Amino acid sequence: MNHFLDIHTTDRAALRAMIDQAGAMKRARSGRSRGACDDEQPLAGRMVALIFEKPSTRTRVSFDVGVRQMGGQTMVLSGSDMQLGHGETIADTARVLSRYVDLIMIRTYDETVLSEMAEFADVPVINGLTDRTHPCQIMADVMTFEEHRGPIAGRKVVWAGDGNNVCASFLHAAGQFGFDLTFTGPARLDPQADAIGFARGRGSKVIIERDPEKAVAGADLVVTDTWVSMHDAQSARERRHNMLRPYQVNEALMAQAGPKALFMHCLPAHRDEEATSAVMDGPHSVVFDEAENRLHAQKAIMRWCLGV
Ligand code: CP
Ligand code: NVA
Repeated sequence: MNHFLDIHTTDRAALRAMIDQAGAMKRARSGRSRGACDDEQPLAGRMVALIFEKPSTRTRVSFDVGVRQMGGQTMVLSGSDMQLGHGETIADTARVLSRYVDLIMIRTYDETVLSEMAEFADVPVINGLTDRTHPCQIMADVMTFEEHRGPIAGRKVVWAGDGNNVCASFLHAAGQFGFDLTFTGPARLDPQADAIGFARGRGSKVIIERDPEKAVAGADLVVTDTWVSMHDAQSARERRHNMLRPYQVNEALMAQAGPKALFMHCLPAHRDEEATSAVMDGPHSVVFDEAENRLHAQKAIMRWCLGV
């Protein structure tokens, strides 16, 4: 039984195998309608619980569709509707759910909820985003980069803006897939030090460059994310916007990056805040391929978790 809790805590060869399997499964579905089953039905007879303590469009729909394409069944649960939201412990919830379902995906706030769920569940647990990381997203992003540009190893990724949960998983991926990452953003929103340390410890070059134009020079990929994440206090919105405005990804910044640079955003985007519509809809952008690849990457992750 394998939990998929984070990119840095998952075996490197397993991560590579998941990306490759995701690509193969995507190609095998070419031309089919979204609702059509895969030829292989590795999740036949399996029940998957999808628990959300925060809102979601992509994670919710892509997991649900992915399970069904592989022949399994899902139940989508909101944390607040469960006893979990009314004082039942994570440990008891994990033990109970393990009697009903074969796999648990949870999106939550504090990462200790995820780790406790994994500790006490008898079935695999998948991280669908916490305040600190978003590994499923970055698996889809690595897959998307490689579809467009070939191997990501040795490439230069630039993260612009808030050094948040998605950025941390990008740093973990830098260490595991062997690419370099330049962060450009305000010092108060620097990425988590342990994520930087992990990437550097695995031999990736991690650079902090406060000047966004200098940062993007020679980039193979420019990435940004919302300036106010779901776990951030709304009261900090104006202060964060003021700090982050110089790091907006716009056409002028992408011109500095050069014609070969891709642009990614995990979505949901706040258009004309962290990235302009011209960039979101422009020639560098692969944001909707990223969204699609959540489906394929997560199908491979679920198969790895269940060993099927
Ligand atoms: N990118 C992402 O995880 O989107 P959702 O919040 O819609 O799931
Ligand atoms: N950083 C964002 C990602 C949303 C998918 C958040 O945590 O709200």
